[in-house]
Amino acid sequence: MRRFVIVGQKVRASPDFLLADIPSTSGRMDVLARSVRAALLVSHAVRRDTFAYLVMLGLPERPRTVRIDGSASRYLRPDERSLATTLQKALALPVPPESAGFCDARRGVAVAEGGIDCVLPELAASALYLLEPSGTDIRSAKLQADEASFILGDHLGLPPGLRERLLGLGATPLSVGPRALHTEDAIALVHNELDRRDPTSCTPA
Ligand SMILES: C[S@@+](CC[C@H](N)C(=O)[O-])C[C@H]1O[C@@H](n2cnc3c(N)ncnc32)[C@H](O)[C@@H]1O
Repeated sequence: MRRFVIVGQKVRASPDFLLADIPSTSGRMDVLARSVRAALLVSHAVRRDTFAYLVMLGLPERPRTVRIDGSASRYLRPDERSLATTLQKALALPVPPESAGFCDARRGVAVAEGGIDCVLPELAASALYLLEPSGTDIRSAKLQADEASFILGDHLGLPPGLRERLLGLGATPLSVGPRALHTEDAIALVHNELDRRDPTSCTPA
């Protein structure tokens, strides 16, 4: 299983944004929407072996996290507006209590009250990889590809303290190249490397 965790530092955990102007009304939900496409969608198909976690830390609402399960999701379309609509609908549902964990919003899409702390238990069986340009080159890295979790920042990177916390949990810094890329491009390169190493993972379900 591949898991991608994308931390949106300013993304408001609220459905109260304009689909006609996603970047400036949502705290950059557009970055998360494009990351969903890169993490879960390939040409005319969904990656059934992948989860995407979208951590929304923006004020004024409390943090919430949307989880999309590629094995269960239906009707995910690749355009940014459609993916943002999926996120908007999930965020419009009543806020679950923090103790409830992830609650289904629709098939394959679940929402939890809370930030990275509600994601970490789901990564417990995974090797953790922290994506950053100065990390170990993914081309030469030994990866535990069958159960791997990749944590990425948004256009602002990771919030203060999270990098250190993940390193403390044993995360390996991993690079997809020397240049700082957009989050969704880094995700695509991780998938590409894993696909090349295990072409059987590319067999349509
Ligand atoms: C646009 S970059 C963040 C740039 C931000 N100004 C910073 O200094 O962290 C978005 C995210 O994509 C990932 N990323 C970007 N380029 C990468 C690279 N070359 N290797 C690994 N991860 C990368 C990182 O997780 C990063 O937080």
